[in-house]
Order: sequence, then C-alpha cells, then structure tokens
Amino acid sequence: FKLTVLISGNGSNLQALIDACDSSALPNTSITHVISNRKAAFGLERAKKASIPTTYHNLVAYKKRHPDTPSGTQAARTEYDSDLAKLILDLDPRPDVIVCAGWMHILTPDFLNPIAGAGIRVINLHPALPGEFAGAGAIERAWEAFRKGEIKRTGVMIHEVIAEVDAGEAIVTEEVLMREGETLEDLETRIHGVEHGLIVEGTRRTLEAIKSKR
Ligand code: GRF
Repeated sequence: FKLTVLISGNGSNLQALIDACDSSALPNTSITHVISNRKAAFGLERAKKASIPTTYHNLVAYKKRHPDTPSGTQAARTEYDSDLAKLILDLDPRPDVIVCAGWMHILTPDFLNPIAGAGIRVINLHPALPGEFAGAGAIERAWEAFRKGEIKRTGVMIHEVIAEVDAGEAIVTEEVLMREGETLEDLETRIHGVEHGLIVEGTRRTLEAIKSKR
C-alpha cells in the first residue's frame, strides 16, 4: 500500500508511521510523499532523512494572488485545496490513503470531492474523543475542562475526514484518564504517546478495510 502524509509541525506522528512501514503493523506499506503547509515543519526533515519526497504547499502564495477580503481569501483557499488534490492525484503511484498527521489546515470539499472521486481515503488524527473539543488546541481545552471538574478523561481518535472539522466516523479511539494536579505539558506528553500508537493502528485498520473490499 501507498500512503501520502500531510503535516504542519514536528511530525512525531509521521515518524511513528515511517517507523511502522513494512513492519508487522503495516506490511507492504510505504509513505511515498509528505506534504506540509508550513515551510519550517520539522516533519519535512524527518521525511528527507527517510528519503521520502516532500512538497511544501504554500497557502501564502495563493493569498497573494487575491485581494485580502473575505471573498478573496475564499477564492485563495478554493484554489489551494483544489491544487492540493491535483498534486496528490498526479502522484505516481497514487496513494491508497492520505493520513493527516498534525495537519492544521481545514480541508474543504474542493479537496475532499476530487480525492473521494479517485477512491482515495482520507483519515485524520485528533487528540480528543468523538464529539469533544473539535478544532485546534483540543488538549489544552480538555485540560481546562478537567481543572473545572467537567471531565475525568479525554482521549485520541483517528477518524475519516469529512467537510465538518474533526467530525468524521471514528476508526479507532483511545481514552486517556486525567490526573489531579498534572501539568498541561505532562498531559500533552502522555497524549502524544497515545497518538503515536493510534496513528499506526488507525492506518492499519483503514488498509485492512481496503484489502477486504478487493
Ligand atoms: C497532535 O496533537 C496534532 O493534533 C497537533 O500536534 C500534535 C502532534 O503533531 N497539531 P506532530 O505529529 O508531532 O506534528
């Protein structure tokens, strides 16, 4: 199987996938391309070290071609997303699955429709449980809710990507019990550890589902 991985930052989840490819968890599977929307994403270094082709897909370049107005920004995002889909559809070989691993750009139907039309699955890592803390800063918002006594646990999920943010069907989830007096940094460290296992398991289950349909 072939994976394309989308990143925006450190790439620790990308690293987990790199390390798992061709292991018993992800047999006959390789990452053929890594795309980042941030030039300085350390994940790009990780890809290069693993000899994986990379692309920096730059939203700023699109915004410069349009007026800085709501409709201008909308036009830039539409072009950005449809060009991102074209970039992936032009890859040879095309990926079976696109894995969003710490990818911090909302993917619109301009991206999702052509990709779905080509039969390519898109999955995403989100550090919260289904229906909770959608969007950015999920770990911190869970930590705040715990301090207010509103929750006792949070978690991590891998889910199908749909137009609504962090709302697609969950593929796999794992709960993370919260600890009294724990710092946000410690909780983040524990959650990232869970992410690294779950991103591999979520990808494995997705590939199994593709295999069973063949
Ligand atoms: C994840 O919690 C992701 O949702 C957030 O950063 C964390 C890991 O990113 N954006 P990375 O895989 O280390 O880049």
